[in-house]
Amino acid sequence: MPASILMTRTLPDEALALARARATVDLHSGPQPLPKSELAARLGDKDGMVCLITDTIDAQTLAGAPRLRVIANVAVGYNNIDVAAATARGIVVTNTPDVLTETTADFAWALLMATARRVVEGDRYVRAGKFTRWEWDLLWGADVHGKTLGILGFGRIGRAMARRARGFAVRVLYHDALRADLAAERDLAATFVDKATLLKESDFVTLHTPLLPETHHLIGADELKMMKRTAYLINAARGPIVNEAQLVQALKDGWIAGAGLDVYEEEPKIHPGLFSLPSVVLAPHIASASYETRGKMATLAVENCLAVLEGKMPPTPVNPEVLRKSH
Ligand code: DGY
Repeated sequence: MPASILMTRTLPDEALALARARATVDLHSGPQPLPKSELAARLGDKDGMVCLITDTIDAQTLAGAPRLRVIANVAVGYNNIDVAAATARGIVVTNTPDVLTETTADFAWALLMATARRVVEGDRYVRAGKFTRWEWDLLWGADVHGKTLGILGFGRIGRAMARRARGFAVRVLYHDALRADLAAERDLAATFVDKATLLKESDFVTLHTPLLPETHHLIGADELKMMKRTAYLINAARGPIVNEAQLVQALKDGWIAGAGLDVYEEEPKIHPGLFSLPSVVLAPHIASASYETRGKMATLAVENCLAVLEGKMPPTPVNPEVLRKSH
C-alpha cells in the first residue's frame, strides 16, 4: 500500500505530481492554514507530512500521529516544529536549505537598498500625484556603495550577502558563533569581529541567524544604542531575533536611521508603531518568494518526504540522528 502524506497547502504542479506519483496525498487546498484540531485529526493516520511555517507542529500534535515518520517543512527555518519532540518519537524533520539562499539574499539586499534610498516613500509620493517637478531636496537617502555591512549570522545566506557586497564596494564585517575558515573569509573579503564591534562600525546591520533560544532578542535596546545613528537594520531572518517594541523606540528616538523588515516578532501581527514610521520598509515575509525558488523548495520538501517513506536518507534532514539510529 502506498504511504499516505498530509500536504497542508497546494504546492506547484511538479511537486504535487511527484508526491501523487509515489504516495497517497491528503491535500488541504485552501489558502488558510489548517486549524490545529483539523491538522491533528488529519495527521492521525498519516505516514508523512509536507507542511509550511504557518503550521505549528508541537508535541501534542505529534502524540496523536503514531504512524508519522517524516515532517518535511517547505522552508529553511523550522521553528514551527518541535524538533526535540519529533526526534524523541523517531520522526525525521527536514527543511529546504540551499535552494533559497540566493533568492533570500537578493531580497535582503533589496530591502537594504529600498530602505537606504527611500524607494517605497518615492513610490507613495508618485502615486499620490505629488511629483509635479524635479526637486533638489526631494527624498535624500543614504549611499550604499563604499559603506560597511555587518552580517550577524554567517551561514549560507549571510555569506551570499557578503558575495553581493563586493559589487557595491561595501566593506564586510561579520559575527557568528562559529568563525568561518580563513579561505572563506578571504574569498568573501569578510572580517570576523565581535558583536559589539560589528554594531558600532556598520552602516547596515543585516540578520541571518536561525531563531534559537540564543538568538531570541539578539537585537534589543542595548544593541540598537550601540549602532550608529545613521545606520539601518535589515531583518529577513526571523522576527523574534529583534525586540520589536525596542526597535520602534530606537526608530522613533533616532538611535538608528531606519529598518527594512520582512519578518515580525508575532507574525502576522506587526507592532502598530512601525506603520507610522516612514524610515521603515515593511514586507510580508516574502524573501524566498520567487517563482523559481518556491518551486524548488516545494520539490525538495516532497523529495525529502518520499525519501524517508521509502527508507532512504533524505537530501536535507534537520535531525539526521533519527535515521542514523535506524539504518
Ligand atoms: C524560510 O524558508 O524559512 C522562510 O522564512 C520561508 O520561506
